[in-house]
Amino acid sequence: MYQEWRYNEFQQIGKDYSSQEEVDVYDPSHDDFRDLKSEIKEAKEWLAPTTNSKILDIGCGTGNFSIQLAACCEKVYAIDVSETMLKFAQAKALSNKVNNISFSHTGYLNFELPENHVAGVISSLSLHHLPDFWKSVALNRIFNVLKPGGRLYLYDVVIPDQQPNDIINDFIKRQEKRGGEFMKEDTIIHFKEEYSTFDWIMKKLLTDTGLIIKGEQFSDGVFKKYLCEKPK
Ligand SMILES: C[S@@+](CC[C@H](N)C(=O)[O-])C[C@H]1O[C@@H](n2cnc3c(N)ncnc32)[C@H](O)[C@@H]1O
Repeated sequence: MYQEWRYNEFQQIGKDYSSQEEVDVYDPSHDDFRDLKSEIKEAKEWLAPTTNSKILDIGCGTGNFSIQLAACCEKVYAIDVSETMLKFAQAKALSNKVNNISFSHTGYLNFELPENHVAGVISSLSLHHLPDFWKSVALNRIFNVLKPGGRLYLYDVVIPDQQPNDIINDFIKRQEKRGGEFMKEDTIIHFKEEYSTFDWIMKKLLTDTGLIIKGEQFSDGVFKKYLCEKPK
């Protein structure tokens, strides 16, 4: 029954990450507004990968987090609904001589891993591709795949509870200054067509699964990091 109305997460909404052009421009355009080095450092600090831990990277995109995490853990499962992104990430892993990443064309609602299997999950700038009900399905699936005591690093564009209109408008202006017309359009598409949700909704969705939010931080108005743990 559930199968009949399950959300089709393979259809692209907003930015079309199945397009080779979008994938090719992804890393250089994100360099305009992200400090990837410090994002990776923070993710590593929270997920604390070890040589016998497995990590799941959902919406791995061009593979930056997977590749860095793979250097210090047993295995990374890197999944994405865009085959174009996966091919790009795979080539990057190969050129970095990283061979402990298992790439799969699947997503939040379809990945198949045993329960209590991974020590950590990273979801960076990808959960907003799902409408809210499906975010909750995804977070429950993440909870199930995490080992007791396992950790989720969730980073995404989230709508602040207070003065959202002003904050979004200011953010679009900053993005235009950083990356010109391309980045302005990219950001407008985000808020017009994708499913970023309110901070209070994200927190409720996370805690309803049973995850404990151990840390949280907004940056640049709309980026939010949630450091979560599954009870032991
Ligand atoms: C903005 S990129 C983020 C890439 C990378 N994690 C980062 O932080 O740079 C979003 C990625 O999520 C993927 N994606 C979208 N919906 C998804 C889903 N339901 N399951 C898994 N990946 C998804 C897209 O194909 C895209 O590669």
